[in-house]
Amino acid sequence: MKEKTKQRHHLKHEGSERVLFKSINLLSSTRSSSIHHCFRISVFVFLLFFGVFVSTRLLHSTLVSIAGNSIEIPINCSAGNVTRTCPANYYPGKFDKRDRALLLTSPAECPEYFRWIYEDLSPWRETGITEEMVERARRTANFRLVILNGRAYVETYRKSFQTRDVFTLWGILQLLRLYPGKVPDLDLMFECADWPVIRSSLYSGPNATAPPPLFHYCGQDSTLDIVFPDWSFWGWPEINIKPWGSLLKDLEKGNTKTSWIDRNPYAYWKGNPVVAKSRMDLLKCNVSDKQDWNALVYALNWGREAQLGYKDSNLARQCLHRYKIYVEGSTWSVSEKYILACDSVTLLVKPRFYDFFTRGLMPMHHYWPIRDDDKCRSIKFAVDWGNSHKQEAHAMGKEASNFIQQDLKMDQVYDYMFHLLSQYAKLLKYKPVVPRRAVELCSETMACPTEGLTKKFMLESLVKGPKDEGPCVIQPPYDPATLQSVLQRKQNSIKEVEGWEKLYWDNQNKNKKN
Ligand SMILES: *[C@@H]1O[C@H](CO)[C@@H](O)[C@H](O)[C@H]1NC(C)=O
Ligand SMILES: *[C@@H]1O[C@H](CO)[C@@H](O)[C@H](O)[C@H]1NC(C)=O
Ligand SMILES: *[C@@H]1O[C@H](CO)[C@@H](O)[C@H](O)[C@H]1NC(C)=O
Ligand SMILES: *[C@@H]1O[C@H](CO)[C@@H](O)[C@H](O)[C@H]1NC(C)=O
Repeated sequence: MKEKTKQRHHLKHEGSERVLFKSINLLSSTRSSSIHHCFRISVFVFLLFFGVFVSTRLLHSTLVSIAGNSIEIPINCSAGNVTRTCPANYYPGKFDKRDRALLLTSPAECPEYFRWIYEDLSPWRETGITEEMVERARRTANFRLVILNGRAYVETYRKSFQTRDVFTLWGILQLLRLYPGKVPDLDLMFECADWPVIRSSLYSGPNATAPPPLFHYCGQDSTLDIVFPDWSFWGWPEINIKPWGSLLKDLEKGNTKTSWIDRNPYAYWKGNPVVAKSRMDLLKCNVSDKQDWNALVYALNWGREAQLGYKDSNLARQCLHRYKIYVEGSTWSVSEKYILACDSVTLLVKPRFYDFFTRGLMPMHHYWPIRDDDKCRSIKFAVDWGNSHKQEAHAMGKEASNFIQQDLKMDQVYDYMFHLLSQYAKLLKYKPVVPRRAVELCSETMACPTEGLTKKFMLESLVKGPKDEGPCVIQPPYDPATLQSVLQRKQNSIKEVEGWEKLYWDNQNKNKKN
């Protein structure tokens, strides 16, 4: 019942959400336990893949093999007592091949959104990060991660909800396989729950103490949590979401099934509405005998989905409408990348939270902004506009799917982690040591004793071997004026759409009166 305790904890910190959580708890008490979790969590994906079968195949233990130019290093489940200890020399501590390659080719520049790494770490720019600061982040952390000489050590404080912590740690281990010897020594605290916790207001003012650095999946303008890619990039077995690397390919194919112009000219949303008021609100925009807001909205019933083996929620078969609505759950939602990946136009209901990549999205370039306080009319206008500006609308959908396919492929996700961890490590004022109660983690100890879908997803997302090239090159931090102008540009663009929207409705009302 740790999740209960956790929830109480969050209630304490997020008084305004009390009512929401209460209603979710009410609902959840009537469901079986795994479904009930789904109702309690905020992060929600509404579409799923089916056809994933439990794999019981054993891990291969072949020798290091050279595939093309790349070196592959499979994980060896017969070395050592894999349920307990990591093999001594399971992986090279260093990999130099790419350094030679680097002399010949210059590495690519990282996507623009990587520059937010500096912003997220800016609270410690002057002070650096002391062990005392890290210790203070322990209060809500699920685990502490120490990396020393390319090996990972973890001290667990509390189990996370579902397998969030498992797949987050798995992802970090894969980063170590991708760039052996390149991730610097570090010590960090990680929180796996939904709500951002480090409120900036508590750490501002003349005598303020430095905030505790806490890694987490999302943030909002009023918090200082350091955002990090969420577990779903490596898999979410509880609701059958496969690793992002393979899903991305399916989504690309899914896009080609029906050309944009032949898609249903409505805005589509399917998800679990009870996790957020804003989603309940959205249900009112559904088409009916009495009204037509150009929206088709479906409530997802996870109990039913699970019983049907997730047949109704195949992500790659959801690119059938010209417009797709994104609306947050109780915080950020992992569904955003799945929606943007369809080259349908994303109608993005004004978000309150961000994750590591969403700050790179530009309104009217990657998505159409939707008001959160007048959703139905906002959606109606967006769809009408798109259906009468088909080329522009289709282009916007294409920009979003290109962004996802290029700037958010697994290579970029790992590079983001690499740069974030490297910049973070630079700020540390002390030499990390292995915490007393920590255990060493490696891909072998995680994957070998595991079974079922968890194992299948781990093997599917396993990094096969060190990368030939180095990480992309991160652009320098924004100077304050440039950052300001980027934010201003976003604001202006949203304001402009709101202006058009007002004009549209003023005209509609005038026509009605005449
Ligand atoms: C896997 O580990 C076992 C036991 O240590 C060893 O005999 C075997 O050679 C290893 N296989 C590979 C491919 O390294
Ligand atoms: C592996 O470790 C477990 C837990 O300590 C122990 O029960 C088991 O006997 C060990 N197996 C081998 C082959 O050493
Ligand atoms: C900050 O600390 C100084 C010296 O201790 C004290 O005089 C001042 O009142 C404090 N300011 C605030 C805002 O707490
Ligand atoms: C929305 O309308 C569609 C079409 O009439 C219907 O199938 C669907 O169940 C409705 N959604 C909700 C949440 O009532």
